[in-house]
Amino acid sequence: MRVTGRAAIMPPIQINLALHASNKLIMPKILIVSNCPSPNTHRLQQAVRDGCQHENIESIEIRCKEPWHADSHDVLWSDGVIIGTTENFGYMSGAIKDFFERIYYPCLAETEGKPAALFIRGGLDGQGAKTSVERILSGLKWKLVQPPLVLKGDFRDEFVIQCTELGTIMSAGLEAGIY
Ligand SMILES: Cc1cc2nc3c(=O)[nH]c(=O)nc-3n(C[C@H](O)[C@H](O)[C@H](O)COP(=O)(O)O)c2cc1C
Repeated sequence: MRVTGRAAIMPPIQINLALHASNKLIMPKILIVSNCPSPNTHRLQQAVRDGCQHENIESIEIRCKEPWHADSHDVLWSDGVIIGTTENFGYMSGAIKDFFERIYYPCLAETEGKPAALFIRGGLDGQGAKTSVERILSGLKWKLVQPPLVLKGDFRDEFVIQCTELGTIMSAGLEAGIY
């Protein structure tokens, strides 16, 4: 797979599994939680998932869930979380808000510093969704490891490429142990 854009400036991804001090292989675990109310948003979710499974990364485990089906156990299981939301009424989607409401206190004390990434699909804007999620991530003290992707306006194939890169950057970073 040819990697373009932001991923292209990353050092080449090596199959170089991170090791614990005990020399046990680490198999990073990524949780993708995104609402998919339309074919386009399904494509974005799938692109993120594909990106996490870049051909040079063999050691990643992925759980990809609609927000209604994800819970605090999934968050605690994961080494990194990718959140995807549509912008609805100038805010994150109701489904993602419900997810955060359910996981916030069960996770608060145990997930400080968790690597996170965010992508937003907005028909026109996306800024309100971005700000609202960033505020919650800040409360949770999760660490955004790349700038949020705001994908607004008419749907473009470029959005799919950007989501693929977002997934690859997260999984490559976790595998390399740099987060
Ligand atoms: C109830 C509702 C509210 C919406 N509010 C916003 C909004 O405030 N800002 C925005 O940019 N898009 C808004 N949208 C558009 C959605 O973000 C968009 O439909 C969604 O991201 C799916 O995109 P798609 O058309 O590419 O499938 C809204 C859509 C719905 C159904």
